[in-house]
Amino acid sequence: MQRSEINRIVRDAEAFFAAQNFMLPPFSRWTVEDWGAVGSEAAEIVHHNLGWDITDFGQGDFAACGLVLFTIRNGALENLRSVQGKIYCEKLALIAEGQICPSHHHFVKVEDIIARGGGKLAIELHNAGEDGSYRDTEIVISQDGVRRTLPAGSTVTLDHGESVTLEPWHYHRISSIGGSCMFGEVSVVNDDANDNRFHEPVGRFPEIEEDEAPYRLLIGDYARYVPELVRH
Ligand SMILES: [Fe+2]
Repeated sequence: MQRSEINRIVRDAEAFFAAQNFMLPPFSRWTVEDWGAVGSEAAEIVHHNLGWDITDFGQGDFAACGLVLFTIRNGALENLRSVQGKIYCEKLALIAEGQICPSHHHFVKVEDIIARGGGKLAIELHNAGEDGSYRDTEIVISQDGVRRTLPAGSTVTLDHGESVTLEPWHYHRISSIGGSCMFGEVSVVNDDANDNRFHEPVGRFPEIEEDEAPYRLLIGDYARYVPELVRH
């Protein structure tokens, strides 16, 4: 992706989230200069992969296949292993109308996906086989505390405030209906390096062509722009 495209996507997402009255934490607004002025006191942001995460899943067509994520809080894998400390994660996300987040499941992460604002959220569901295939079996989910049993390939539609709990091995493909949708994710510690399996192979973090300066740093930028915090 070109940096100019990423900058535009972040600006649009900031405006959309603000219009929905969802306020992000201060580090969401840090410039490259602000990052240069902070020291090891901000290391948690880097170590726990907090912040902006824009992806086109390596498909080169963000409008059709992509996602804006902002990780608000997240623990570390040590927390998850020891069941001590910050064992949770919260993200905010934006899926544009006509855009899809490709079908994937997690091996460890249990996540609640919550429709927050804008259009409705559509989640297509399958059970995953051990080999990564779709199983032709009924899906059992909890939708706001109510158990539902659905045929394979069903789509759950969530209006604002409604949520669904996705267990590991629940393949989910996300899109929106009736406009771009802001949605939340509340889960156990998130590990994007090891815990995602996509039904069709895709990329997760984009290669960036630097055609202009970054407006905001992405999670994938930290190693390059604030290496002293990565090492700390
Ligand atoms: Fe997911």
